[in-house]
Amino acid sequence: MQTTNNRTGIFILLTALFLAGCGEPKPQLDEPSDLSTMAVIPLPATMTATGGGFFLDSETRIYTIHDDEEVQAIAQTLQQALSGHVNAEPEIVLTTNSEEMGIVLELTGTENEGAEGYTMKISEDQLLISAGNPAGLFYAVQTLRQLIIADEKYTYVPTGEIRDNPEYEYRGSMLDVARHFFTTEEVKKLIDYMSFYKYNYLHLHLADDQGWRIEIKSWPKLTEIGGSTEVGGGPGGFYTQEEYKDLVAYASERYVTIVPEIDMPGHTNAALASYPELNCDGKARELYTGTEVGFSTLCTDKEITYEFIDDVVGEIVEMTPGPYFHIGGDESHVTPMEDYIPFVNRVQEIVRDHGKISIGWDEIANGTLLEGNIAQFWADQENAGKAIEQGARLLMSPAYKAYLDMQYDTASQFGLHWAAYIPVDSAYIWSADKLAPEIRRENILGIEAPLWSETISDLDEAEYLLFPRLPGYAEISWTPAEKRSWEDYKQRLSEHGKIWDDLDIDYYRSPRVEWPEKIKL
Ligand code: ACM
Repeated sequence: MQTTNNRTGIFILLTALFLAGCGEPKPQLDEPSDLSTMAVIPLPATMTATGGGFFLDSETRIYTIHDDEEVQAIAQTLQQALSGHVNAEPEIVLTTNSEEMGIVLELTGTENEGAEGYTMKISEDQLLISAGNPAGLFYAVQTLRQLIIADEKYTYVPTGEIRDNPEYEYRGSMLDVARHFFTTEEVKKLIDYMSFYKYNYLHLHLADDQGWRIEIKSWPKLTEIGGSTEVGGGPGGFYTQEEYKDLVAYASERYVTIVPEIDMPGHTNAALASYPELNCDGKARELYTGTEVGFSTLCTDKEITYEFIDDVVGEIVEMTPGPYFHIGGDESHVTPMEDYIPFVNRVQEIVRDHGKISIGWDEIANGTLLEGNIAQFWADQENAGKAIEQGARLLMSPAYKAYLDMQYDTASQFGLHWAAYIPVDSAYIWSADKLAPEIRRENILGIEAPLWSETISDLDEAEYLLFPRLPGYAEISWTPAEKRSWEDYKQRLSEHGKIWDDLDIDYYRSPRVEWPEKIKL
């Protein structure tokens, strides 16, 4: 009996070894993972951990349930993001089975997660992303890009569940391409940075005293003359209509909507230099390359001014699918208020007749705001109050908190400080609905962090001001205030320093955060 037992034992052992050899052994993490502490920015609404790993390798597939162009494009975005991690392009497979073992992208057609929300359920066998709309799938992919861990042994995503949904519907940044011109390549890079952090609006400040940056076919001298210089006397530049359309499309593929701004009636010297008839005295102004503000105005009581605006708005609107047109309206110090108000009222009508909603800097609340129009709060609380009294919503860009061109401190290399020094913690520690008693949550459309370009002339210089503050404004716009804390955020921000080093982003290594060692390759 003894012998038989031994033989049976050996048989069982051999069978077990044979069976084990049939499949790849399942990878095992040495320690449980923790999804809930991953450095995701903006912080998702909820993240719960189950301790395991969804392992990525060259066999990982991306399954899409819908033969839909947008979903396929998002799957390709994910494919590209993963290819660097697994040294292969994961295959994209169309399926009807939401139980597939792999990464599954599913449109639910409901808005249980909110218009831009998503759910991510990560088990050891499957990473299931569901969303009501493609935007939610896209944002989930941005989250996933921040969840991949590559240690010495494995590449994996910690298991658990994420439910996520933005607090504000408008999460924006602005680039001033008028004071200094930025190439389309530079703007595209900014769009990449923004979309990684789930921003959804890029406001382009397309015209100011120092430059006119968008081709208007019916008024060609705007760019021939008005586009020919910039602050400091450099060569300036402008976007052709084809280039602008290409930017709009590039942004749209990344769920970013362009908001074009033509600032008026002030901040118009470049137009006034291009066309003498826009001046009350009929004389063209000299081109301007300094940084003063508040000295220029369109002639508000000439009919040609409104024909000009109608043409400009018309051509830009034709190329801009988004809902908004920004009419500027700030710092018109040489336009008497009795001229400013009817001007702002009339321009809003022109924009409405072209089918768009007007946004204007908070001064426009001195006029009569058309229904649905938005005042962008940057400086004057009284103007914000006037907008709210008229039933308008606010876009929140308080200069002393949200202006990306403000210096970090007295030693900052670029930037200004007329509103404040804004170190990285101050940029993060505020809430749009807690700044003033009259500005409540229901009055707020969203948040925008503008980057004015008097002191920066290219993207490299811009990056110093953008990073590390840009992610913080994204989080303030996306994550409800009660879920945010500087102590937690600064740890996550520090992890993102590695991402920026990898991307060669020249960020400001603020002493208020412990940054990772910079690894020189
Ligand atoms: C502004 O900063 N002049 C809106």
